[in-house]
Amino acid sequence: MMKLSRRDFIKISALTACSLVVSTGLSGCANIWNPIDVKFSHGVASGDPLTDKIIIWTRLTPAEEIDFLRLGYEVSKDKNFTTLTHSGEITTNKTEDYTVKIDLQNLDEDTVYYYRFKSNEKVSIVGKTKTLALNPASVKFAVFSCANYTNGYFNAYKDVSNLSDVDVVLHLGDYIYEYGMYDNDDGITPAYATQNATKINRVLPSDNDTELLILEDYRKRYALYHTDEGSLAIHQNLPFINIWDDHEFADGMYKDGTFNQDVTEGNFETRKLGALQAYFEWLPIRPFEEGNDQIIYRSFDFGNLVSLHMLDTRVLARDIQLSYSNYFDSVGNFDKASFLVDISDTSRTMLGTEQLTWLQTKLGTSTATWQLLGQQVLMAKMFLPAELLTLIVQLTTDLTTAERTAISTQLNTVLVELVTIKTRILAGDPTVTALEEARVTTTLPYNLDAWDGYAYEREVLYATINALGKNVVVLAGDTHNSWANELKDSNGNAVAVEFAGPSITSPGIEEDVGLPDMTSSMQFEGAITLLIDDLKYTNLNQRGYMLVNFTESEVVTTWNYLDNTDSTTYKIDTTRTKQLKSLVGSKSITTI
Ligand SMILES: [Fe+2]
Repeated sequence: MMKLSRRDFIKISALTACSLVVSTGLSGCANIWNPIDVKFSHGVASGDPLTDKIIIWTRLTPAEEIDFLRLGYEVSKDKNFTTLTHSGEITTNKTEDYTVKIDLQNLDEDTVYYYRFKSNEKVSIVGKTKTLALNPASVKFAVFSCANYTNGYFNAYKDVSNLSDVDVVLHLGDYIYEYGMYDNDDGITPAYATQNATKINRVLPSDNDTELLILEDYRKRYALYHTDEGSLAIHQNLPFINIWDDHEFADGMYKDGTFNQDVTEGNFETRKLGALQAYFEWLPIRPFEEGNDQIIYRSFDFGNLVSLHMLDTRVLARDIQLSYSNYFDSVGNFDKASFLVDISDTSRTMLGTEQLTWLQTKLGTSTATWQLLGQQVLMAKMFLPAELLTLIVQLTTDLTTAERTAISTQLNTVLVELVTIKTRILAGDPTVTALEEARVTTTLPYNLDAWDGYAYEREVLYATINALGKNVVVLAGDTHNSWANELKDSNGNAVAVEFAGPSITSPGIEEDVGLPDMTSSMQFEGAITLLIDDLKYTNLNQRGYMLVNFTESEVVTTWNYLDNTDSTTYKIDTTRTKQLKSLVGSKSITTI
C-alpha cells in the first residue's frame, strides 16, 4: 500500500473527505495531483435528479492501494466546457473504495448539464445529465430490472442510452447478482445463470468468482458491472433513480435474513452492512439523510404531472416469505387451511409501518395528476388454478430429465383442458359441470415472494388509494418477465394499473417451466392471460425494458425486446414490441 509523506498528508487533509460532497458553484481547480498513476475505469454516472440538484459520480482506480486520492470536477451547460457552472477539488479515499459523489446544487430546471472529472493528467469521459422540469407536459421513463452479468450483455442499457427523449432511468433492483460461478456449497454445481457464461465470454473474474459475502466482494462486483459497454453508455447519458431488490444483497432477502446464506457463510448482519455500503458507494443515489444508508424510499416530483414514490419492499421491513413447501406433508397433502390462515395474517408486512405511513402521507398531499409507485415485486393478484400451480412448483425443484419431461407433458395437457373450460365458461356454455368450473376457480397465488404473500398490507394500500381517489400506476421488476395488470381490491373494485418489465439479462419463467421456443412460450402466455382475470398482457421469454410515458390524459407503456443478449450485436425484435395505455381516471388497460 502506498504511504503518504507528511507533506502530502497535510495537503490532502485540508480537503474534504466524505461520502457525499455538496457543490454550490465554482471554486478552485488548480493542481490536481496524486503521487501515483490513476485511471477512470468505471465511467461516470448521475442520479436522483431534482429541479435544482443532481448527483454526479465517478470512481478513480489507483495503480496501487493508497489512503487518499485527489481529483477535480467541472460542470457546464455546453459540451465543450467553455463556461463552467460548477467546479472544484475533492478527495476520495480507500474507505469509500475511491468512489466520488457530488450533489450539485443551484442548477436550472429542465436543463442539460455536462460534467467530467480530472486527476493527474487523466480526464474522465464526459457525462450528460438533465434536471427535472418545473412544469413538464410529458415525462418519459425507461424502466429496468435484473441485470445478470454471466447470462448476457446489457444491450437493454445500450439501447436506451441512444434514446434522446428519455427523461430518467428507473432501476427497480437486481442491479447486480451475488452468485459466483459455482454453488458455494460444493464448488462444482454451476451457480444461477452461469451456464452460458463461458460461451459468451462473460465469466466472472478470478478475484470475484465466488458468492459475495463481504464488503470487498460486493465492491468488486459493482466494479465489474460498471465495465459493461451498455452500462457505461447509459450512465454516461442519463440520470438514474435506483432502488434495490434482493440480489444486491442475496437471494430472497427479507428484513433479517436471506434464502442464500448458510452457517458457513459468516454473519448475516455483516454481509448486509457490506452490501449496503457498496450500493451507496457505487450508485448515484442521494441518502435519505446524510449518513443513513438503510433507507431508500423517497419521492420525486415531475411538476404537477407525476409524483414518483420509490419504495423498499425488500430489505427494510419485509417479514419472511411464506413457502408452499412448509404446507405439504410427507405424502404430498397440502394443508390449505393452515396456509390460508398464515397468508391472511394482518400483521404481515413488506413496507413496515413507517414506510407505509410515509407513502400514505405522500399520496395524500401530492396534487399531481399521476402517482407512480416504483417498486420491486408484482402487486397484482396472480392466482393460478391450483392443479396448474402444483405442476409449475414441481418444475422449479430438482428433477431428473425424465421426471421433468413427464411433468412438462402433464402441464401442457392440463393447460389445454383448463383453457378449454375457461373459454366455455366465458362463452356461457350451459354444459360446463360444477367439477369443471372448480378446476379453473380453485386457485392459489403463484408467487409468495410478491404482494400476493402480503395480501392484508396490499388491501390497506388499495383502500388508501381509493379513499384518496388518486390515479396510481405501479411499476414492478423482479420476475424477469413482462406483465400488465389491472389491480383490484378484494371486493373487485378497480384500484390502479400495473406495468412490469422484463429483465435486462436474467432468465425468466420460461426456464422454470421449460418453454423451449417462442411458439410454446406464446401459447403459455395466451393460456395464463385467459386464466388470470386481472392479467392483460405477458411476455414470458424475452429480455428488454419498458418505456413509460405520462401526459395529462394517459400513460403509454412500450415494451421493447432484444433479439439476443449473447453478444453486443443486437437489434430490437419489433415483431414483439407491445404498447398498452391507461387513460387518466380509467384504472383499466387498453391496447393502442
Ligand atoms: Fe432478478
